[in-house]
Amino acid sequence: MTAPTKIPTVTTRSSRRSTAPWVVIGIALASLALWNLGAAQTTAAEAAATLALVPNASGLVRDGAILYDHNCSACHGDTGQGLAEAKTSFPEDKRNCTSCHRPSNPAQMDHLAMNWRFAFDVGVAPAVIGDGALSAFGTGTALFGYIRLTMPRPWPDSLTSDEYLRITTFLAAANGADAVRVRTVDDLSHVEIRETVP
Ligand code: HEC
Ligand code: HEC
Repeated sequence: MTAPTKIPTVTTRSSRRSTAPWVVIGIALASLALWNLGAAQTTAAEAAATLALVPNASGLVRDGAILYDHNCSACHGDTGQGLAEAKTSFPEDKRNCTSCHRPSNPAQMDHLAMNWRFAFDVGVAPAVIGDGALSAFGTGTALFGYIRLTMPRPWPDSLTSDEYLRITTFLAAANGADAVRVRTVDDLSHVEIRETVP
């Protein structure tokens, strides 16, 4: 990378001209990765950082970690620390979310209403795992109800009840609650979230 005389000028111009297609392709890839409803789900290897929060987990907790990674980590982070952590998974030039996700936009928008430079308000996703996280929720039932009613932005209630059950069970377990015996949505009423916060 020596002799940077006249070449940089040319490079800068042509790369500026080709910005738009790359942004579009980048978003298409990100959308596929995040919202591939069906076909290629997030793999356990891709969800490694999330699964590490619940070592030796099986069943609902393990499934929930992978579903969380797929549907929630884009805003709440791979280990649930919130938007600041989530941003580190984006390319550097896309971390200024509000350049496209304007705070004055609605929180819920359908695909047709969005284009490559205009999208729903992502908001500021709080931490959902760790000391003090989820302190507003007493039981797994309350947490399940909230998540299904509001998450994931921008399409709440877009997952199945079974998927919400698994994600809720994972979040409870990752926050130290005893969720090993959870099998159904009804079982979530026995899961104490608040008591687990040290
Ligand atoms: C597009 C960004 C985005 C995505 C994706 C998203 N969230 Fe959120 N989440 C937020 C924002 C912003 C808030 C803050 C409250 C609000 O504005 O609705 C929030 C709040 C929460 C809260 C409440 C935390 C508290 O203590 O008040 C929980 C729990 C939660 N989200 C879980 C989830 C789960 C589970 C998923 C995946 C199914 C998910 N979120 C996907 C943006 C997101
Ligand atoms: C260059 C513009 C741009 C930037 C910057 C950007 N986004 Fe997006 N984002 C979009 C568009 C457009 C969509 C809608 C795609 C669609 O219709 O599904 C989108 C969709 C999303 C979705 C919904 C899931 C999906 O992939 O469709 C999430 C979650 C999201 N963005 C989070 C973020 C976060 C968090 C940041 C900042 C770290 C960010 N985005 C930065 C343009 C952007």
